[in-house]
Amino acid sequence: MNAETTNTIPARNIILVGFMGSGKSTIGRELGKLLSYPLIDTDTKIEEHEKFSVADIFSLRGESFFRTCETQAIEQLLSEGVTHHIIATGGGLPMKKQNRPLLRELGYVVWLDANTETLLERTSRNNNRPLLQTENPRETIEKMLEQRNDIYQEVSHLHLQTTGLNVAETAHGILESARYFFGHS
Ligand code: S3P
Repeated sequence: MNAETTNTIPARNIILVGFMGSGKSTIGRELGKLLSYPLIDTDTKIEEHEKFSVADIFSLRGESFFRTCETQAIEQLLSEGVTHHIIATGGGLPMKKQNRPLLRELGYVVWLDANTETLLERTSRNNNRPLLQTENPRETIEKMLEQRNDIYQEVSHLHLQTTGLNVAETAHGILESARYFFGHS
């Protein structure tokens, strides 16, 4: 059973989704501090479980293995009954259809959005994202956003455009809407 077939009340977590470089980890840490909720990062959870970095998992086992690990990671959070946490997800996690109801079952889903310029600037600071190791990362980002934005929209309860907002403003905005959501769910 999942949120598609039942009217499950979502657990009290805040789930951050969005493209690579949209600030999920940074905002997640800030939210965690404000609420005194621990932060879980699905990439980190997978790395700890597999004992390899995401980049190594992609090159050694392939992307589809990594996607299976992502589903297992959120299934595990649900089966453990995790609550009162901030959960930062890998940018591709909502792309698998079966993951979307699971994310909404886990809590309040927030799409952190930013413009291409910001995403490019943040993701070019290091080379640990296998999908952006291309000749033209700007073009890659634009193409991926075209494929992904509708899905981020579909899975999220809140869409937040963060370009021009600082970390504190973004976190406070999320906090206010999450309180309202949890107060009414
Ligand atoms: C990916 C995003 C990455 C990581 C992997 C694939 C994606 O996480 O899961 O490199 O498909 O968008 P971040 O969004 O935290 O960078």
